[in-house]
Amino acid sequence: MAEQQRIIISGGKRLEGEIAVQGAKNGALPLFAAAALCGGESVLHNCPKLSDCDSACRILECIGCKCKREKNTVTVDSSVIGSVEVPTHLMREMRSSIIFLGAILTRCKSCRLSFPGGCELGPRPIDFHLAALREMGAEIEEKHGFLDCTAPSGLHGAKITLSFSSVGATENIMLAASLAEGVTEIHNAAREPEITDLASFINKCGGKVSGAGGSTVTIEGVEKLRPCEHKIMPDRIAAATYLCCAAVSGGELILTETDHNDLRPVTAVLEQMGCRIYSYGQSNMFINAKKPLISPGTVRTNVHPGFPTDAQPPLMALTTLAAGTTVFVENIFENRFKHASELARLGARISVEGKVAVVTGVKNLSGAELMATDLRGGAALITAALGAEGVSRISGLSHIDRGYENIEGVLRSVGADIKRM
Ligand code: EPZ
Repeated sequence: MAEQQRIIISGGKRLEGEIAVQGAKNGALPLFAAAALCGGESVLHNCPKLSDCDSACRILECIGCKCKREKNTVTVDSSVIGSVEVPTHLMREMRSSIIFLGAILTRCKSCRLSFPGGCELGPRPIDFHLAALREMGAEIEEKHGFLDCTAPSGLHGAKITLSFSSVGATENIMLAASLAEGVTEIHNAAREPEITDLASFINKCGGKVSGAGGSTVTIEGVEKLRPCEHKIMPDRIAAATYLCCAAVSGGELILTETDHNDLRPVTAVLEQMGCRIYSYGQSNMFINAKKPLISPGTVRTNVHPGFPTDAQPPLMALTTLAAGTTVFVENIFENRFKHASELARLGARISVEGKVAVVTGVKNLSGAELMATDLRGGAALITAALGAEGVSRISGLSHIDRGYENIEGVLRSVGADIKRM
């Protein structure tokens, strides 16, 4: 359905108004896996309506769980796990479905799934995940693209050092360790806010996780976890995207339901560009962007609390109209500048060399036919089209719908001339 659809944007409109930021996609996915750990009915509030969340529910239903959505609340009943096999088509549908391995393995002592497909950002290896689970006692056979994982006597704690602070590997180990025998330490763990949210969920279920958010996370395995109720944290990447949309339009926005602490790496760059950003109350932010913005200089993506790689594409879109030259160094993924060639169709001046992209600001962009090839690249195209003169038509919406709930409705509500055909 989303394949034939297009988003049509008539750019140049100043955004003004208030947006309640959606729940975090990258927070929800590990929580779905965690819900499979604790036999019973867990309740996830503030769960965004995204195709990735639908895929996660389909995976849970494949192994015997029951999922029910009412608006933004999803109930997961994992009382009975009838199967330990995740079908290939679901593994392909969502690269991050590897996140279910640790949870299924530690609860059911076996799990069978196919290698997750690569994605638009390059081959998405899972070597850190498999090495860690093997250290915890898993026997994993890789053949014909399938992973046969067993832990007949259950998983046991281990001292694991990650060579890179992988978000997914940290989450998988936390999930596997929560029911393993003994204590697991994760050194050089990822420090993303989604890790902290996952730890608070596991602890609410009776788990014993400490140190989440720091670079050493310790998990003491327990016998059993019981279901719990949890509100998913705000989506910091959706919030960063909407801040870039406000800035590119020279407008001003209030974001509610967000956490400005998680956004510090992004707001620091936007302030360098000349945006004025204030936070107030528990979860509100205000941005005002006078034109023209100036280049922030060099932006290096990094693990948290560095600049998040997921915000690089929408920020790049914004810098195409900022005065000066911006250098992006993409340190997390090896192929995350595919949106540059699409932005060039609007008149942007970007040259890409490996993990470096150099953006020379131009006075204006003009609308064009654009195609999204990945989720955040699609967000970059929408951001740039809002700042371009004339009409842009964007295809490849299935990528965008993976991570943004009703993005055209949200932007239209604050003054954008945007519709989905
Ligand atoms: C999570 O992916 C996010 N996805 C990504 O968001 C995000 O870009 C990424 O973290 C980095 O912040 C979810 O949370 C569902 P990683 P993940 O493991 O866990 C390499 C979005 O747009 N690596 O931290 O897959 C890997 O190739 C998505 O919302 C290995 O080499 O990220 C990559 O270069 C995109 N071996 C780097 O580490 C491994 O075993 C970062 O990967 C695992 C990863």
